[in-house]
Amino acid sequence: MKTILTGDRPTGNLHLGHYFGSLKTRVELQKEYETYIEIADVQALTDNFHDPEKVRKNVRELAIDYLSCGIDPKTTSTYVQSQIPEIAELTIFFSNLVTVSRLMRNPTTKAELAQKKGLFGQNGESITYGFLGYPVSQAADIAVFNADLVPVGEDQIPHIEQTREIVRKFNTIYGDTFREPEAYLSQSKRVKGLDGNEKMGKSLGNAIYLKDDLETISKKIKNAVTDPQKIKKDDPANPEVCMVYYYHQLIQNDQLETVCKECKAGSRGCVACKQELIQKMMEFLKPIQEKRAYYEAHPEEVERVLKEGTRKAKEKAQNTMRKVKEQMKIDYHYIKEGNDE
Ligand code: TRP
Repeated sequence: MKTILTGDRPTGNLHLGHYFGSLKTRVELQKEYETYIEIADVQALTDNFHDPEKVRKNVRELAIDYLSCGIDPKTTSTYVQSQIPEIAELTIFFSNLVTVSRLMRNPTTKAELAQKKGLFGQNGESITYGFLGYPVSQAADIAVFNADLVPVGEDQIPHIEQTREIVRKFNTIYGDTFREPEAYLSQSKRVKGLDGNEKMGKSLGNAIYLKDDLETISKKIKNAVTDPQKIKKDDPANPEVCMVYYYHQLIQNDQLETVCKECKAGSRGCVACKQELIQKMMEFLKPIQEKRAYYEAHPEEVERVLKEGTRKAKEKAQNTMRKVKEQMKIDYHYIKEGNDE
């Protein structure tokens, strides 16, 4: 059985962009692959080091989002990154195999720096060693499980490419140890925001969250961007430029054809169309939100899932590190494993 590793930073709740962009794929793939999902709290701290409370709170929130969407603890190990120090150890060894200039050229890191001027300076002059190096840590995340496949969104492709380079270099110097992982881009493309932006994102304020209630959803959908050419209720419009229609499509409204026809004919007003979407959206989210309510009422079950997932992940990581240290000729045993002195 092949291995999958993927993960998210625990910095906020998941939205429809995450759901259609990656979660749905993970739920399907977990049946065919040995799956590990990392709650990347150490990585989240690289740009939230000043706000540990936020990261801690979101570890549990993220775990609940996963379980609510159908991540199955029987087949998938969900673990918390900081609980596997082997990853940090491998990060150190990997850091010799990548140049600082290569890290500076990573397009995703660059884009993030441009967004985080407050934290890392106008021109990135205050960038930390930790943030610049997080792709190395991500390479260790992936390699410590010797993952074959990494299901991610497009923005993560540079990190997977960097992982492949590091792993290749490791294998060349220390002997064949790691597989070169491949990115797995999910079928569905990027989900657009309510404002028509190409990307749904937390920082863009255009997202529908999986845990949003009726009132929140109503407010958001009422403000969604529609065809600007349509002025009066009975004007014919173009559904292709309307975000309301876009979401009718996304969640597969069974009346899609009617929606499209009536919109084009001008026999459907935007207010009614939005009202219908609000209702369909709540129906779509209902099973996810019911599961969330269950886990919120049973925090001990969430804890149990994380504990068991972390245990399995740790076992696999330890095995890899034993091999890594042999290959690197640092397999000393001055201290016995397991504290059985
Ligand atoms: N960088 C990823 C993100 O921001 C999260 C992540 C951390 C990850 N470790 C990973 C993704 C390993 C894939 C594999 O979404």
